[in-house]
Amino acid sequence: MATGRISLTRFLIERQRDKALINADLRLLIETVARACKAISHAVNKGALAGNLGSAGTDNVQGEVQKKLDVLSNEILLEANEWGGNLAALASEEMEDPHPIPTHFPKGEYLLLFDPLDGSSNIDVNVSVGTIFSVLRCPKAASGEGYCEADEKAFLQPGTAQIAAGFAVYGPTTMLVLTVGDGTHGFTLDREMGSFVLTHPDIRIPEDTAEFAINMSNMRRWEAPVKRYIDECLAGKTGPRGKDFNMRWVASMVADVYRIITRGGIFMYPRDDKNKAGRLRLMYEANPMSFIIEQAGGASTDGRGRLMEVKPEGLHQRVAVILGSKNEVERVTAYHKE
Ligand code: AHG
Ligand code: MN
Ligand code: MN
Repeated sequence: MATGRISLTRFLIERQRDKALINADLRLLIETVARACKAISHAVNKGALAGNLGSAGTDNVQGEVQKKLDVLSNEILLEANEWGGNLAALASEEMEDPHPIPTHFPKGEYLLLFDPLDGSSNIDVNVSVGTIFSVLRCPKAASGEGYCEADEKAFLQPGTAQIAAGFAVYGPTTMLVLTVGDGTHGFTLDREMGSFVLTHPDIRIPEDTAEFAINMSNMRRWEAPVKRYIDECLAGKTGPRGKDFNMRWVASMVADVYRIITRGGIFMYPRDDKNKAGRLRLMYEANPMSFIIEQAGGASTDGRGRLMEVKPEGLHQRVAVILGSKNEVERVTAYHKE
């Protein structure tokens, strides 16, 4: 069957064989995550038919009410990834502590972090949700033999140490967006064939934009530089920017970031009076998305500096996020410096 299609498997094999960018273990890891995303996509798609909507009646470590799909997606990712022999441990937004590899399975050199279901508030209202993941290398043990104890400390590496990152968005089509450090690439799920197909190679984010994404209901709580930036956008053609701006806010980071890598834009969840450190999670949301955005020619900052250079202090740490079209992100950064 000559289709000329490049499947995720072929894409990864080529990165392994021709470019020596990844090894077989990392390839297996990414394929396993992608397979889990297919299962989550299916569960999201079935919705009420499979009894998948609504609350699970439990709270996660962040004190947020868990939806059934938060719990199910977390289980799907754990179950898919723990037996492969390529991981030292896993960490999830939905679990307080790192998840060790069960002793009857072999261990490997990688650490996997994920936000199993991003955009939980949109599940029951039938709006796009997704999965975000990040891969780090487990530091070598001090003895030089094998890998370190994969405790919380092993995970506390800056975003610049990421080996791979990606996200799936379960929207009108299910897409997987991936980087292994040589650009950002998009794959569409072919449901009948059951495979992800490379449909958006080498995604580039336009450097300029006239579209911003922010939760405006927090406006009164923002810091001055963010307030100034948005005020100037809202002033439109006759204001200091000399052009009209459009606004979008899906409240699923995966969907907002997908739009930005497709047509440009700036996404902001800044720190404010209520979320003093920011709202989004550094390890599960901010770092992987920053890696993807930078690899697509965009920029990402916490307002003070490059987001991926933030030194993590806790697994569930929150951070301010400003990312997207380069020139706009640089403008907001400059306002912070003034
Ligand atoms: P999660 O569902 O994993 O908790 O993440 C939701 C995040 C992110 O996806 C989105 O950008 C943001 O929270 C929305 O926050 P608001 O509801 O405050 O707008
Ligand atoms: Mn999230
Ligand atoms: Mn989540």
